[in-house]
Amino acid sequence: HDTKTPQYLTSDRSSFAFTSARSRWPVILTGAIDDVHRAVSALELSQTDKREEGKRIVEAVGALKYEVLHDRAMTPLEDDGGSDIEEYNRELAALGETTWLHAPWLFSECYLYRRIATHFARSTHWKQHDVFARQKISTFRSSRPAVLELATRYNAILSDLARTTPSAEAASLVFTEIAEISLWGNATDLSLLTSLSYADIQKLQGSEARKAAEKHILINDLHAAYDVLLKAQAAGGERTVDIILDNAGFELFADLLLAGYLLATGLATSVTLHPKSIPWFVSDVVPADFAALLSALHDPRAFFETASEEEEREGTKPAPLADDEVAALEALFAHWSGLHAEGALRMRPNAFWTAGGSFWRLPTSAPRLYEDLRESTLVVFKGDLNYRKLVADAAWAPTTAFAEALGPMGKASGVDLLSLRTCKADVVVGLPEGKDEELRAEQGEGEGRRWAWSGKWAVVSFSGGKKG
Ligand code: F6P
Ligand code: MG
Repeated sequence: HDTKTPQYLTSDRSSFAFTSARSRWPVILTGAIDDVHRAVSALELSQTDKREEGKRIVEAVGALKYEVLHDRAMTPLEDDGGSDIEEYNRELAALGETTWLHAPWLFSECYLYRRIATHFARSTHWKQHDVFARQKISTFRSSRPAVLELATRYNAILSDLARTTPSAEAASLVFTEIAEISLWGNATDLSLLTSLSYADIQKLQGSEARKAAEKHILINDLHAAYDVLLKAQAAGGERTVDIILDNAGFELFADLLLAGYLLATGLATSVTLHPKSIPWFVSDVVPADFAALLSALHDPRAFFETASEEEEREGTKPAPLADDEVAALEALFAHWSGLHAEGALRMRPNAFWTAGGSFWRLPTSAPRLYEDLRESTLVVFKGDLNYRKLVADAAWAPTTAFAEALGPMGKASGVDLLSLRTCKADVVVGLPEGKDEELRAEQGEGEGRRWAWSGKWAVVSFSGGKKG
């Protein structure tokens, strides 16, 4: 159940795969090594076993970095008890002699993160350690201006809703606003932080930036998804929205605004969030990130008045929060933790989300999960990697219909799905004739689809799979 269209390879000179594997992966691996090294140094001398084991993990990740840099063969994953190891290794074997820098991009990048995870899973003392947690938390701290702006705006929306019923037109505008907040929340993920500063990120997150960015949404099918939700609401009964999450911190915050809004308006009666089960593509949500976000909102002063790593380096201190800012964040804590406690907002991890293959395999590799998603009113896929997986990271002509590129998840899949994706890779489908050429002509120097690498452009693509 894979596409016949060739996938992007880490050896394609004109693809972002080439740059990613050669320039970004080593930086990400170095960050992981530093993190464990710091965690080891922070241990008491008496914790000898944990220290020794930590040092061995540092060596193992260091060896992995060496393999990548020197384009060594990709070797089978060591068994760490995970049910997905066998499938990874079967796929690797099927690829034949494959080296890091001459491999399918999607599989090799997934394998990279799965490989890092084996070293922790196989340990005694480091099983729960998330090498990216420190970075995720620090970046969320520096998202403070946008978090405060959105918290105030969202609380105002909720209190309006409690007072009056908006007109259909006003309701649709607010839905669009909230969905676009969730979309652009994806623009600032950590795997791209190797090239973005915190200041760049703050600029990207503000409301003015969002308005200006509307013209960068190349395809906007939000109305189709909204129609599906309105119809389900009019029909009454249970209606679930599933959100296949992407990144922690600011993006998760934005996704919770969307989830909370759907529940508050009755567009959904429950929302199921799908996090990853292992640390993934640096910034992706694992269940502990959800808990960490709620606890930051529970005690906003403790969280946002602590210096971020950048502030620490610069010797600056965050300003104290104003009382109304604290109150706005605490209100969000009460809102979301209440929804979670009553079961309307759920979190459901599944190992399928961190498998090495595309979502073309969902019906066959994860039939129970697939059945659940077929029951859902709307399945929202967040972010770039989820989009790449939906369309199998293949080199489609950019005018290919989205439903076709979805393969078994397209027409007749029984799943209505919406992808909210800022473009950070080569693949893109559903564009009008000539658009790719136009953007390529504007991108300046260099071959390939460079315009699609930076998160500046976005696609909001809907596929109605329930009609058959
Ligand atoms: O573009 C770099 C990259 O790491 C891609 O490999 C990956 O698809 C993406 O970023 C991760 O972004 P997101 O968090 O939006 O999935
Ligand atoms: Mg991500």
